[in-house]
Amino acid sequence: MNQKWQAEEYTKGFSFVYQYGENILSLIDLPKGSFCLDLGCGNGALTRRLQEQGYRVLGLDASGEMVSKAAADYPDLTFRQADARTFLLEEAADCIFSNAVFHWIDEADQPALAQNLYRNLRPGGQLVCEFGGKGNTGAILAELGRQLAGQGMEYRHGFYFPSLGHHAALLEEAGFSVRQAWLFRRPTPLAGGEEGLRNWVRMFAGEQLGRLEPARQEQALAGMEAVLRPYLWDPEKSCWVADYVRLRLQAVRED
Ligand code: BEZ
Repeated sequence: MNQKWQAEEYTKGFSFVYQYGENILSLIDLPKGSFCLDLGCGNGALTRRLQEQGYRVLGLDASGEMVSKAAADYPDLTFRQADARTFLLEEAADCIFSNAVFHWIDEADQPALAQNLYRNLRPGGQLVCEFGGKGNTGAILAELGRQLAGQGMEYRHGFYFPSLGHHAALLEEAGFSVRQAWLFRRPTPLAGGEEGLRNWVRMFAGEQLGRLEPARQEQALAGMEAVLRPYLWDPEKSCWVADYVRLRLQAVRED
């Protein structure tokens, strides 16, 4: 999937993505000084948190813009641009940590991704990851699809949101032992008040929306807001609440 990241806007408006990621750090079960890769490090905020926990860290991301932002914000840490399916570390990792990344990688590439994670871990090394699970943002994406269809455009989202069983089996196929796994709903308040939903669509499904002319984009966004308001608008907090579902796994390379 080819997502164009706007590193500044992402950092300002969508900080929940890496803030929620902090909860996953506690699943890493390693002594201080262990080598931890932050795969899909984005703006580097979680790479910093990993370092604060006492790990030696490296951040990799497919987006050059994100890598530049991370390197500017955390000049004492190392970040590199790399493809999750093909990177090769000089030192095998004790842990590969990844938050909110795997759903951007096409389903057809998931076996190659799992195999590449395996080969970059030392025997006994851990994979700790979280990403969108089955049903993730289902109401939002279904309505976006209906709005696009209403304007004569076919929409098929390319995100990988697997069931727990599907992804656990895929990791096992690559040689991992899955130790712990959860699929859970995580309703997520969006920043920006009334603008929150449309900002989210522009950031995370902007490529689809951008296929419409500006006036039609506005029509589609207004249509989405009208249909989704009864389900996803929180009148007490005056914010939109996205229907996130997360898949969280801890797996070990055993050999
Ligand atoms: C997510 O982070 O869960 C997500 C990203 C893009 C589209 C939908 C959901």
